[in-house]
Amino acid sequence: MIELHQVSKWYGKTQVLDACSTRIAKGEVVVVCGPSGSGKSTLIKTINALEPFQQGEIFVDGIPVHAQGTDLPKLRSRVGMVFQHFELFPHLSVTENLTIAQIKVLGRSADEAKTRGLKMLNRVGLMAHKNKFPGQLSGGQQQRVAIARALSMDPIVMLFDEPTSALDPEMVGEVLEVMIALAAEGMTMVCVTHEMGFARKVGDRVIFMDVGGRILEDCSRDEFFGNPGARSARCRDFLDKILQH
Ligand SMILES: Nc1ncnc2c1ncn2[C@@H]1O[C@H](COP(=O)(O)OP(=O)(O)OP(=O)(O)O)[C@@H](O)[C@H]1O
Ligand SMILES: [Mg+2]
Repeated sequence: MIELHQVSKWYGKTQVLDACSTRIAKGEVVVVCGPSGSGKSTLIKTINALEPFQQGEIFVDGIPVHAQGTDLPKLRSRVGMVFQHFELFPHLSVTENLTIAQIKVLGRSADEAKTRGLKMLNRVGLMAHKNKFPGQLSGGQQQRVAIARALSMDPIVMLFDEPTSALDPEMVGEVLEVMIALAAEGMTMVCVTHEMGFARKVGDRVIFMDVGGRILEDCSRDEFFGNPGARSARCRDFLDKILQH
């Protein structure tokens, strides 16, 4: 579903992605972790062309992201993205947030968009809040609306960038539950997260990135957690730190 070949990116002289390669199969759940500044956000944003890159190739469902002439808005409409900060439109109701891109980008009718949007809102357990504005919802609820909004677009893959790290601790669980259910249904997912419980439960693979934008580890969940002796010292050190909490 997703293929990265030797993707490199620089900001000026600073290299932020260093020959990153990986393949993600349909239905796979891949967790990306690593220290701050290692390029995790940059890496997943290259997948839906939110970040340009200077070298390498990326294919999403066969679409060459790197190629001139690729219809990037169309690609983005098929790749759902959920950020740390929910980025809902504050002046639009929950229902309007769920429907606007379906209408404007996918060309769906208002009725069709509403039916699909509310179905996804129901899925994340928030039907009762359909007429509220984002500011009237908790952080966890806003993030679930953001997930429902992405799902309303019928994405072929979902990208998550630290979706729970801005939430109060008691709201983390409700968002993870939605993500776990999505994974169980076979959605292809790339999740930047340090929620190692989530990684252990539903991650098929774990990618560990280090500063400089290098993929240091890319292995199965069982290998990643079950065989610490085979991990790089850098990765072990990182895991020791985050698993203490
Ligand atoms: N617009 C920019 N201009 C210059 N450098 C940038 C820009 N955006 C990001 N960077 C640099 O690129 C590197 C990778 O950043 P990125 O946000 O991808 O890291 P990250 O692993 O997601 O970090 P975090 O865990 O803090 O979210 C960092 O060194 C960062 O300072
Ligand atoms: Mg980041």
